[in-house]
Amino acid sequence: MTHAPVDSASGADTTLSLDMKTSLLSGRGLWSTESAEEVGIPSLTLSDGPHGVRFQSGEGDHLGINNSTPATCFPPATALASSWDPELVGRLGEALGREARSLGVDVLLGPGVNIKRSPLCGRNFEYFSEDPLLSGVLGAAHVRGVQSQGVGASVKHFAANNQETDRMRVSADVDERTLREIYLPAFERIVTEAAPATVMCSYNKINGVYAAEHRRLLTEVLREEWGFDGLVVSDWGAVADRVAALAAGTDLEMPGNGGGTDAEVAAAVRAGALDESVVDTAVDRLRALARRVRAEATPTPVDHEAQHQLAREIAADCLVLLKNEDGALPLAPSGRLALIGEFVTALRYQGGGSSHVNATRVDSPADELRALLPNARFDIAQGYDTTGQDDAVRLREEAVALAVQADTAVLFVGLREADESEGFDREHLELHRDQVELIRAVAQAARHTVVVLLNGGVVRLADSWYDVVDAVLEAWLPGQAGGGAIADVLTGRVNPSGRLAETIPHRLSDTPSFLNFPGEQGHVRYGEGVMVGYRYYETANVAVRHHFGHGLSYTTFETSDLQVTQTGPDTAQATATVTNTGDRAGKHVVQVYVSAPKRPVSSPARELRAFAKVALDPGESTKVILDLDRRAFAYWDITLDGWTVAAGPYQVQLCENAHDVLVSVPLDLAGDRLTKLITLESTVGEWFGHPVVGPALTEAIRAGLTEEQAAAADDSADAMRMAESMPMRQFLGFLPVPLPEGALEQLMELSHTPSPGS
Ligand code: BGC
Repeated sequence: MTHAPVDSASGADTTLSLDMKTSLLSGRGLWSTESAEEVGIPSLTLSDGPHGVRFQSGEGDHLGINNSTPATCFPPATALASSWDPELVGRLGEALGREARSLGVDVLLGPGVNIKRSPLCGRNFEYFSEDPLLSGVLGAAHVRGVQSQGVGASVKHFAANNQETDRMRVSADVDERTLREIYLPAFERIVTEAAPATVMCSYNKINGVYAAEHRRLLTEVLREEWGFDGLVVSDWGAVADRVAALAAGTDLEMPGNGGGTDAEVAAAVRAGALDESVVDTAVDRLRALARRVRAEATPTPVDHEAQHQLAREIAADCLVLLKNEDGALPLAPSGRLALIGEFVTALRYQGGGSSHVNATRVDSPADELRALLPNARFDIAQGYDTTGQDDAVRLREEAVALAVQADTAVLFVGLREADESEGFDREHLELHRDQVELIRAVAQAARHTVVVLLNGGVVRLADSWYDVVDAVLEAWLPGQAGGGAIADVLTGRVNPSGRLAETIPHRLSDTPSFLNFPGEQGHVRYGEGVMVGYRYYETANVAVRHHFGHGLSYTTFETSDLQVTQTGPDTAQATATVTNTGDRAGKHVVQVYVSAPKRPVSSPARELRAFAKVALDPGESTKVILDLDRRAFAYWDITLDGWTVAAGPYQVQLCENAHDVLVSVPLDLAGDRLTKLITLESTVGEWFGHPVVGPALTEAIRAGLTEEQAAAADDSADAMRMAESMPMRQFLGFLPVPLPEGALEQLMELSHTPSPGS
């Protein structure tokens, strides 16, 4: 980075006046920044979003209300994550970057990598997963793809923004270990592996402090620990106190507000309340961002047809076949099909709010199925009307009349756009009552019943209808080419390969955040701690409808020969062989979880630590190699304020999904050599449990005892358990014989020597 002239006394950048500098650090209106061309800072254009470019040249808004320039609507993250395929997500990123660049967009506001803490979060359709590894790996691929086109990505919403209720004020009250293990790792991975140009801070507070003003997160963790060297931009309207935000590390306030807060910053500098170097640093970051995105910019014309075909290819690999009985799918090439539901002709394909894209076109499942099955006969019925305006009974009867004559009835049901959006959370997981009644009636009438679900957030798959249908395809929100992708999978043109990126629970009250969502009186307590999603269900033994990682295929796979080799003191490599044992080409996701030994903290039964998606022809085999880094075995220890590997036998588990373990291989790790300081506040248990101090203390006590006293001490071993939780300071008074002068100090000194962790 080249440096601007500085004032020798204050060290401030003197190329620009203070007022000009502060004005550069807030938006020019909604979607662009101010410029200072004379010092190499052009105006930059920022646009949503994560799965399509929402470029507004006319009247703008950040809530998805006014229209934007037509662009490809790719599958939103909820679908994308089910691909479990970073290569595919990378291609989506490149395609997004291409469109952004062609529209003159410098920074694309996405991906959103917040963890799905509750299935009720209204924005879950914009987020990847309940698992931080899956979110991080896919998010990094997304960022790399976008940035390969000379467009900056904006990873959002940093941090702990896991609900829409009271989103602009609520304090997410999260303990440090949970932040480190669940809510921060996706951001951390993306920052350290994909170097995003910008990070967007969220609206909410974290433990009482606005994200925009959270110095520890924005500066100490993001920059100093993880090495982020890009620009932090506020979410639109997330800055409550501009001076505090800038001081904490929020470089750019968006959108602009006519200069009001710029003046506040300048006044704070003049009053000596804010160091001008803070302003200069933020300006330098803006200049660096401009150089980066402009230097790498090579706009090429966009082929919208090719983008659409890519959107279809991507979507097809995101659909999850949840259930398939009685050979219901794939559909036979000829025969009679009853297509039922509003979405048959008007696909539900994206969510509401700032990510809303003005799609270049939208394929309908009906047209695409007709094109792929020219010899089949199609009947179409609306089946239900979720607005409640039409007569539900009449619509149902019409649908049933067609289903009776069909070989297969394919029902398209799910949520309406009005049911889930940015800005509010859902209140339940239920499908519309009319849809449920319709499915039950059709299933009774039809020879085969297939249900296609269209929903951004998870819906409940109640026994009452789920058990009576033959097949269920979870299509999520599949983007504008979703109609074609659904047809591809239903007909077998594409073999389904999606796997659930989130658990489908039996009922809302089973979910781990149930009692703590969405909080009250300004606070939401993350009371379930690290036990989010499958981590909870597996640890607490709670039955679910479908496990995280579940998904069926039209072929079969066998995974064998799991070998685990230790590659370092706290790293390993797992290898396994996957064979396509069926008669169709297909893709399989190899999932490796780690189950930790007893640790000083409560730990999930198992955690996803590595995965890979492989494509195999019938009969083909391949060897998959997966690296398990130190983090795969570590937990965040609050007493040591760091990642720690406990000693003990770990289990490296090759799993079909988060629940079904195919094979488990033990791996013994020595654990970290820890320096756990023993003080008078440490408990008796901690003193005696310390690998070095414990034996020395026992010896020191015994040395002062008579034979009789030693025998009495042996007899009182059980009683000692009661004293284990007593701080040593209090316990000293109960020792039969006082320790010699200075002995305690010497013993405490011994704890300065590191010992293997436990
Ligand atoms: C959303 C962001 C979005 C921004 C700009 C905000 O309301 O939370 O995700 O990028 O608006 O539209």
